[in-house]
Amino acid sequence: MAKDFEQMEDSNRSANASIHEVSDPARRRLLGGGLGLGVSLGLGGLLAPLAGCSTTATGSSGPRFSFKSVPVSTADRVIVPEGYTVQVIAPWGDPVGVSGDSPAFKFDASNSAAEQEVQLGMHHDGIHFFSQDGSKSGLLVMNHEYTDDGLLHPDGMKTWNAAKVRKAQAAHGISVVEVAQQADGRWELVRPSPWARRITANTPMQISGPAAGHALMKTAADASGRRVLGTFNNCASGITPWGTYLTCEENFINYFRGPEQPDAHQTRWGMKKGDGGYRWAEFDERFDAAKHPNEANRHGWVVEIDPYDFSATPVKRTALGRAAHEGATVAQTRDGRAVVYMGEDARFEYIYKFVSRDKIRPGGAKANAELLDHGTLYVARFEADGRGRWLPLRHGQGPLTAAQGFADQGEVLIKSRQASDALGATKMDRPEWIAVDQQGFVYCTLTNNSNRGGAKQPGVDAANPRANNTMGHIIRWKEDGDFDGERFAWNHFLLAGDPSNERAEAQGNVKGDALGCPDGLWVDGRGILWIQTDMSTSAMGKGDLKNLGNNAMLAADPLTGEVRRFLVGPVGCEITGATSTPDGRTFFINVQHPGESPSERSDPAAPSKNSNWPDFRPDGRPRSATLVIRKADGGVIGT
Ligand code: FEO
Ligand code: CA
Ligand code: CA
Repeated sequence: MAKDFEQMEDSNRSANASIHEVSDPARRRLLGGGLGLGVSLGLGGLLAPLAGCSTTATGSSGPRFSFKSVPVSTADRVIVPEGYTVQVIAPWGDPVGVSGDSPAFKFDASNSAAEQEVQLGMHHDGIHFFSQDGSKSGLLVMNHEYTDDGLLHPDGMKTWNAAKVRKAQAAHGISVVEVAQQADGRWELVRPSPWARRITANTPMQISGPAAGHALMKTAADASGRRVLGTFNNCASGITPWGTYLTCEENFINYFRGPEQPDAHQTRWGMKKGDGGYRWAEFDERFDAAKHPNEANRHGWVVEIDPYDFSATPVKRTALGRAAHEGATVAQTRDGRAVVYMGEDARFEYIYKFVSRDKIRPGGAKANAELLDHGTLYVARFEADGRGRWLPLRHGQGPLTAAQGFADQGEVLIKSRQASDALGATKMDRPEWIAVDQQGFVYCTLTNNSNRGGAKQPGVDAANPRANNTMGHIIRWKEDGDFDGERFAWNHFLLAGDPSNERAEAQGNVKGDALGCPDGLWVDGRGILWIQTDMSTSAMGKGDLKNLGNNAMLAADPLTGEVRRFLVGPVGCEITGATSTPDGRTFFINVQHPGESPSERSDPAAPSKNSNWPDFRPDGRPRSATLVIRKADGGVIGT
């Protein structure tokens, strides 16, 4: 989400920062005093054990890439290396292929809300390819993070009414489309398809786990606290070993209209008086927190979807905790339990992991329908010595008692942020995607945090070593023992930056091509770590980001740290979401919000003038879409 760079929520005023703002003044100077010192301290004594783990796993014959790096670009098109091809499919507004109902996209954006309910949503984000016929056909399941109402309606927001709210809600959520490779190698949507489906901000969902039925989850519309309408601001995604899709509710609080005086709970979650940016409350009362204070508690969860069962109700899994969830990445312990890593994309918020109580059973989604309802949620604390601990969010333990305001486990989970504050978790620089490599290292992008070190905000710490962190970094750790370990060793995989920048703290330490604001992160079948950037539209082209061009996707070698730019997107976009066919010969990559411009957002009636990607029609408007990347010779991507 690019627009969040300036407006990004920053609501953690808990006192626990002091634990990590190393109290020894000499040490603090060392950490904050320069990039080199901070990095070397963070790695000291710790690079060796981490590197040792990686080389014993694969030695020097590990994954490599051989494509020729592409340069920085500000062109309004997608740039890929020589020998690669790009095709655009599934843009916002194209029909998903629900049988008998395939309204075409109208380039003046005059499609109705009912039509939008069977068309691809706006602002593509996390995506996964569920194979059906090897690498020749399958389902693409993808998130639609948010809407730009200036583009969604013919007259933008000059007028506002219930139909526009309904259309905006329909443009959120998830799309399931069937895709198949054609004889000429190109990919097309299969329409109609029995799998085609839209899940929107109004789709009925079930709430499960320890917070289901909790008093804080009950509303006038749902006395049970177990049924809720919809999901929105779905950012990154994850997949489970049993074949389901996890979609993550990120900055949900912006959809609510806050009361005159938000209470402490609402304030901790970033709710302010009045509309949070989306004017849904004007025509949909459930988004008015003054009237329905518990509705917001029913959002901020990880939602499990079975893409193979059109009739299956999506389930919000409260055992995984409530957060402004960026993503949910699943690993598996050696004895077969699921471990879910989750970052919360907001300034000074936390990194979580959930460990299931039970083992994954054979039998797919139905056999594992309750697996994510039982287990332990932990929050991460990164110590200055390169070690770390997972702190359990367990009711009755430590500060998580009724006397401290947590009546039961449900309340601990609904108030995960407050629980993490009390436990002394580490306040991070906007944790975004998480990926696990073939050596068992876990990586998390920390996209940026220009408030770090501000007058009223926490200063630097070992894990977040730069004040005014405009460039972001990637942290990685390895659990002691298995993925369920409660201790880990960590270091920085890279500090993003541009060596040509005059500001020393913005230069970073990337071995290879410069990058800023890492966000999307994915490990492909060969073990290459793919990094996608989200430099905000308002900051691109100026300040520290002025020489980095449009947002990009880069390949990184986990063993050597080498980084090489693979793809650059069109003007004003972010690159986010990546998946491939099992044979690695086709990548599906999402382009979100091409043409986004802060000046035009303030005059949302005017369609973007700086991009018309991908249609390039004078009467059109920029559309998020999915890129199909292949090698011209049909080879494996990256080789
Ligand atoms: Fe939705 Fe954190 O990007
Ligand atoms: Ca982002
Ligand atoms: Ca993101």
